[in-house]
Amino acid sequence: MLFKLTDEQLMIQNMVREFSRKVIAATAAERDKTKAFPADNFKQMGELGLMGMMIPEEYGGEAADAVSYVLALSEIAYSCASTSVVMSVQNSIVCESLNKFGTEEQKQEFLVPLAEGEMIGAFALTEPDAGSDPVSQSTTAVRDGDDYVINGTKRFITSGQNGKVVLVTAKTDETTGHRGISCFIVPKGTPGLVVGHTEDKMGLRASDTTDLIFENCRVPAANMLGKEGDGFKIAMSGLDSGRIGIAAQSLGVAQAAFDAAVKYAKKRKQFGVAVTKHQAIRFQIADMATQIEAARQLVFSAASTKDRGENYTREASIAKLFASEMVQDVTARAIQMHGGYGFTKDYDVERFYRDARVFTIYEGTSEIQRIVISNSVLKDKRKP
Ligand code: CAA
Repeated sequence: MLFKLTDEQLMIQNMVREFSRKVIAATAAERDKTKAFPADNFKQMGELGLMGMMIPEEYGGEAADAVSYVLALSEIAYSCASTSVVMSVQNSIVCESLNKFGTEEQKQEFLVPLAEGEMIGAFALTEPDAGSDPVSQSTTAVRDGDDYVINGTKRFITSGQNGKVVLVTAKTDETTGHRGISCFIVPKGTPGLVVGHTEDKMGLRASDTTDLIFENCRVPAANMLGKEGDGFKIAMSGLDSGRIGIAAQSLGVAQAAFDAAVKYAKKRKQFGVAVTKHQAIRFQIADMATQIEAARQLVFSAASTKDRGENYTREASIAKLFASEMVQDVTARAIQMHGGYGFTKDYDVERFYRDARVFTIYEGTSEIQRIVISNSVLKDKRKP
């Protein structure tokens, strides 16, 4: 392996691997059927320090580096992609945004319980008519005395049902484009915040995805995250970190599909020999191993760029683009290697294939990643 992990990073990887394969994996297939939200697992993950890994210890986190975080997230995704998306949104977009932009009071009230895993957080940017283009969102927040009154509908919100606090973006000035978007911290139970339709998805079925409807939802001005007009910047910087997470999630699911396919191929006999004797299968294995390793290096590269304190927007989008496309191919090949059995629910590869499908869509589609990457290349004077 090109990238050399430290002893501490290896220790975190091993600890999470053991927990994930014992605890998370045990109910993953069942939760895919029942859509049960694994609240107990998240409680244990909080106790292990997995829900606010990169947050300073004084705010309930582990002060872990981003490389340790991607190792942990991949290990959770290996067993259950639904669990890993909740972990990803919580760690990156929710906790990191609060840590970076929150006041001391906001950190004490919201970041500490989030980072300790006592509650789940959600991030609400997308709307029915504003997905890839969040600047065109129509949710508004109007100042009224010491409060803001929020109106609008957010869509496809991860943990919209089970989240206890929501970071929501809304227009505070409709005339200034992205500079007119602000971000608010809205606890569940705030009058006027209603959980709407829950999506019935092809994958990630144990992670709830809902509409959040804001109807004259009044929040104190003290709940604004950052300054008025900071909302788009908060969302974009949160998504930089989030995209490394989705790349790590892709890696974990791809590794799980690959391991399952290799295990199956070693046992399966056709034409009188183990199928691993056939070049057709050996070449599949070689291609999959190569794709996964390439993605792993890109994920580590993005995470370590972040750890060095450098701008990592380009690296995050490159890792997300490559790894999320890679896992489409690897999970499809894993099914192919299982033959007809791969198409049944008796084998996990069917779930991996369904779960992975959204990875090229959420937290910025592959097309959006190409926009971010090409913008960076064309504007940046860095050598590629
Ligand atoms: N960090 C900080 N600021 C950033 C930034 C970044 N990575 N990228 C851009 N900005 C700032 C720019 O500096 C600029 O600010 P100033 O004008 O003040 O200098 C401002 O944002 C606008 O920048 P652009 O002109 O580049 O922005 P744009 O309007 O052209 O849009 C985009 C850029 C990349 C297309 C962006 O709209 C985008 O990322 N779209 C995809 C949205 C997305 O990923 N949605 C996912 C939903 S969340 C989700 O899926 C979570 C979940 O639940 C799983």
